[in-house]
Amino acid sequence: MKFRTIAIGLTAAAFSLAAFAQQPIVIKFSHVVAVDTPKGHAAEYFKKLAEERTKGRVKVEVYPNSQLYKDKEEMEALQLGAVQMLAPSLAKFAPLGVKEFEAFDLPYIFDNYTELHKVTQGPIGAALLKKLEPKGIIGLAYWDNGFKVMSANKPLRMPADFKGLKMRIQSSKVLDSQMRALGAIPQVMAFSEVYQALQTGVVDGTENPPSNLYTQKMHEVQKYVTVSDHGYLGYAVIVNKKFWDGLPADIRTTLEGAMKDATKVADDEAKKDNDAALEAVKKSGKSQVITLTAEEKTAWKKALLKVHQEQADRIGKDLIQSIYKETGFDPAKL
Ligand code: LMR
Repeated sequence: MKFRTIAIGLTAAAFSLAAFAQQPIVIKFSHVVAVDTPKGHAAEYFKKLAEERTKGRVKVEVYPNSQLYKDKEEMEALQLGAVQMLAPSLAKFAPLGVKEFEAFDLPYIFDNYTELHKVTQGPIGAALLKKLEPKGIIGLAYWDNGFKVMSANKPLRMPADFKGLKMRIQSSKVLDSQMRALGAIPQVMAFSEVYQALQTGVVDGTENPPSNLYTQKMHEVQKYVTVSDHGYLGYAVIVNKKFWDGLPADIRTTLEGAMKDATKVADDEAKKDNDAALEAVKKSGKSQVITLTAEEKTAWKKALLKVHQEQADRIGKDLIQSIYKETGFDPAKL
C-alpha cells in the first residue's frame, strides 16, 4: 500500500516536471507605437519568426501602443526584468547613461537611408550597441523608422515661423537644442500623451516620421505638416542582459537569426510605410502638407547646423566626426 502511494506520487511529480519543461519561455516585448507602423510590423514579424523557429519553445507577447508601459517606465521595466525586449527610439537612450545615441538626432546628419545604414549597419553602430552592456542591456539590432516632418497649426516654412511655439520633443538634449535653434520652446513629453496635448493646446506642434503622426491621428489636430526631413527617428532593439545570457544557447542562436531576418524586412518596409502614411495624411484633407523649396530648406539647414557644434562635447566630437566621415556629411557645404 505504502509502495503504491509512493509510486503514484512519483508519477504525478514526473508529470508536473514534464509540464514544467514544456512551459514556453516568454518574451514580453513592449512598445509605444501603433501596430500599423514600421516598429509595430517588425515586432509582429519577429514574434512570428521566433515562435515558428523555436517550435513554440519561445512565446513572444507584443504589447503595442504604450498598453503596458509609457516611454520612461518601459526602460525601467526592462532593467528590472518586468519585460524582456523593447525597441525605444534612439533619442531615448541618454537616461540609461549612453548619450552618444543622440548623435542620430543631429539635424540633417543623414540625407537618406543609405547614409544612415553606413552607420547603423557598420562598426560605429556596433560599437554604440556595445556601450549598453555595462548597463545590463544587450543591443540586438537597429530598426528603421524614417525622416521627420514638423507639424503645427500654422505653416512652418522658415525658421522664423517657429518663434515662441511650444513643440513636443522626445527626451533628447539634441532635440531640445534643435527646437531652441529654431526659436521654439521644447517640451519633453511621453509619446502616448502627444495627441491630447496637441488637441488641447498644451503644445502647439511636434515632429515625428509620417507613420507615427498618421497612426496617432496627430494630423487631425494639426492644420499644417511640413515635409522637412530635418532629422531621423529610428530604434535599437534591446533585451535584458541577464535574461538573454540565461537562455539555452540553441534558443539564443535561433532568436538572433529571427531578429536578423525581421530587421531586414523591417528596414525594407520602413520607407514604404512612411510614404504611404504621408499620402494618407494628404488624402485625409485634415492637414495641409507643405513641401519646402530649395531656399527654404537651406535656411533650415543654416539655422540648425549650430546644434552640431553645441552638442559636440556632450555626444563626443570623435563620434560626430566618424559619422561625418562615414556618410560624407560636410558642414561647410550647407
Ligand atoms: C516618439 O516618442 O515620438 C517616438 O519615439 C515614438 C516611437 O517609438 O516611434
